[in-house]
Amino acid sequence: MSDQFCQEPLPSIFVPSHTFRKKHTYHNSMSDLSAIDCTKLPKHIAIIMDGNGRWAKERNEDRVYGHYEGVVSVREIVNACGEIGIEYLTLYAFSTENWSRPKAEVDALMELLVNTLRKEINELHKNNVKLHVIGDMQSMPAICRKELSEAMDITKDNTGVNLILALSYSSRWEIMEAAKKFATDVAAGRQQTENLDDTLFHTYLETKKFPDPELMIRTSGEHRISNYLLYQLAYAELYFTPVHWPDFRKPHFIEAIINYQQRERRFGKTSDQIQTNPPQHAE
Ligand code: FPP
Repeated sequence: MSDQFCQEPLPSIFVPSHTFRKKHTYHNSMSDLSAIDCTKLPKHIAIIMDGNGRWAKERNEDRVYGHYEGVVSVREIVNACGEIGIEYLTLYAFSTENWSRPKAEVDALMELLVNTLRKEINELHKNNVKLHVIGDMQSMPAICRKELSEAMDITKDNTGVNLILALSYSSRWEIMEAAKKFATDVAAGRQQTENLDDTLFHTYLETKKFPDPELMIRTSGEHRISNYLLYQLAYAELYFTPVHWPDFRKPHFIEAIINYQQRERRFGKTSDQIQTNPPQHAE
């Protein structure tokens, strides 16, 4: 049996089916997960992994050391998603703006990406993780594109956590690209301007295969969205923590999910409307 915490239990003649996926309190070795309500899980969590540089500086180390340690947090949070039952995890690994950092740091980040993919791919595959990328792949070094493409190919049939790396990504770039593609389709007669609505526009975004994130976490105390998934985060709950990314581990992640579950998501409706007719969270 899978060790996923919020999984659909196997049907049993001893358990009536209507008891499945109800709020439950587990008192077992995974007791730190026990406060999570499995009926109100976000399907998609997006993270801005901030604070690697400051974390390293606090230790009198080079900023790159913070990025290395950040990979340990990435591994732990991906595993936590599998354990809890989070279906989509998007990580802001390199923004369009990050290209203007010192060349040595950019090179180190690209090398770290390649080495991490090489080192982790077997484990990711074994854990049923499916890798995706969003962003301007043409601007990435050829070696990164090659490793990413191989990793995505290896994991393409996996059915567990969808790990989406935002690389050379910025939301304004993505929205402008979407607008250009739609305009091209209109000019070619494949689309009509009047048909453009939210659903159709989504199909032009990098994230077209994924549901919008319900929760966005940013570490390291900054209260900004920084050109990240601006269109997709329209109704997301935002969670900010002072913890630097290299220190952000499973207990912090669980805390963020519990905090999200305590909020009332109204989508422009009134509190009374939501209480009478609650939105479905974990369909
Ligand atoms: C922000 O911290 C972090 C980044 C720009 C890079 C994030 C990269 C990793 C966590 C490692 C590589 C990831 C993968 C998926 C292989 P910052 O440098 O802006 O920190 P600061 O605000 O303290 O300077």
